[in-house]
Amino acid sequence: MTDIAQSHDRLLIVDFGSQVTQLIARRLRELNVYCEIHPFQNVTPDFLSEFAPKAVILSGGPASVIDEGAPLPPPEVFELGVPVLGICYGQQAMMHMLGGQVLRGDGTAEFGRAYVTPTDHATDLLTGWFLEGREQVWMSHGDHVARIAPGFEVSGTSPNAPFAVIADVNRRFYAVQFHPEVHHTPNGKTLYENFVKIAGFTGDWTMEAYREQAVQKIREQVGKGRVICALSGGVDSSVAAVLIHEAIGDQLTCVYVDHGLMRQGESEQVVGMFREHYNLPLIHADESELFLGRLEGVSDPETKRKIIGGLFIDVFQKHADELGGAEFLAQGTLYPDVIESVSFSGGPSVTIKSHHNVGGLPEKMGMKLVEPLRELFKDEVRALGRELGLPDSFIGRHPFPGPGLAIRCPGEITREKLEILRKADAVYIDQIRKHGLYDEIWQAFVAILPVRTVGVMGDGRTYDFACALRAVTSVDGMTADYYPFTHEFLGETATRIINEVKGINRVTYDITSKPPGTIEWE
Ligand code: XMP
Repeated sequence: MTDIAQSHDRLLIVDFGSQVTQLIARRLRELNVYCEIHPFQNVTPDFLSEFAPKAVILSGGPASVIDEGAPLPPPEVFELGVPVLGICYGQQAMMHMLGGQVLRGDGTAEFGRAYVTPTDHATDLLTGWFLEGREQVWMSHGDHVARIAPGFEVSGTSPNAPFAVIADVNRRFYAVQFHPEVHHTPNGKTLYENFVKIAGFTGDWTMEAYREQAVQKIREQVGKGRVICALSGGVDSSVAAVLIHEAIGDQLTCVYVDHGLMRQGESEQVVGMFREHYNLPLIHADESELFLGRLEGVSDPETKRKIIGGLFIDVFQKHADELGGAEFLAQGTLYPDVIESVSFSGGPSVTIKSHHNVGGLPEKMGMKLVEPLRELFKDEVRALGRELGLPDSFIGRHPFPGPGLAIRCPGEITREKLEILRKADAVYIDQIRKHGLYDEIWQAFVAILPVRTVGVMGDGRTYDFACALRAVTSVDGMTADYYPFTHEFLGETATRIINEVKGINRVTYDITSKPPGTIEWE
């Protein structure tokens, strides 16, 4: 535990392997509560006395308490005299250990939406609930509690979960069968808010405190070592770089690999900002000739991605060697990247697209990773960026994929097409900004299509490229819907692109959601 953590009230989340445990942590950060997630195996009695939590949450998990060797917290958790909240599997573990009974799911498994209604046994945990009668919650359980432990009362029930919310108010033990941390339990945050209030948290854990702690952790990890960071100009790698620079100054060098597939003016902006405003040691590796040369004649999307990913590693390695090597590689890995790499079934998931990131680098280069954003979600990274003083215009930028314009240029990539694409994209984004829509949209871009169409301009025939506009709303990029522009906006934008961009004579709007489409065209 860092000194900073020690100076705050701490909440312990005992993890039993639920897919959504990090969401609990996230809900708590939103409430400015300091928490740490620890796998159940590590939560020993010694650990508990050292960590000295002010409250404990037992997470959900895939196991069954009925099985021999089922994961359980140490009994000392219930002797600390602090509030304990069990969620789903956590509820079952509590009941199992405190004298209740859990039965195996025999057709009583319940997944998805359910509605909880109150009983006569009100509890502070549910203050602010049931204002409109019932509350929607998200269930996901196979086993179920058949008898509650002595001292507990039922405060909320649902048709398939009679013990949906139970509480022993004297001991301040609470347990719920559903997942209050997920979006589909819309009032779930209130439940956490009530729980931390019951425990007496003051809400002193802010992004400022997070920043201080992150800086301290980086210093501890890196010592006097050297760190290199592949800066892409995206929000994640930028925030990671600025944070690490704050921690260790010039022990960090950033390498910006310019593959020649960036948008109009983008490389200059990124390099300018980091060199001039942050005085951050930065190598601008202009390798566009190399990348574009190797992509010549290639039209298969996966081949493009593999070429770019492979070259990226080679180029980065070359620059790292020129610097005399480094022990650490910094990455802007976010929590969703961590979740996505673990498939739900535990088996290998199907590769839809080979995502380009620097994931292959550490193994190849034998470097240790510095990943200061690993616990954060995108909007939290943005908040941290703001805390670090990065300009809003930069923090609010739409995501841009590692392979850049290559995957917005289906078919063969040529310099001519890239030039046309850059111009069309700049006009489109300008339109979106002018209409005040930029922040409502998750991502917007133009794709240039591998097809020429006939048009007429003035008195002449044109035979130019067609392009597609894409704009989607999304919360995490995993699912997305097309943005409902007005016809006026689309018409005005099409006219501007055709008038201002030589080489395009037809504009279409892509109205595919994800799934079945993906956000990028390749
Ligand atoms: P798709 O096209 O898979 O994209 O729906 C989902 C989100 O991921 C971005 N994307 C990438 N980001 N490297 C990245 O860093 C990649 O190779 C890559 N491919 C897609 C895409 O822009 C969208 O935000």
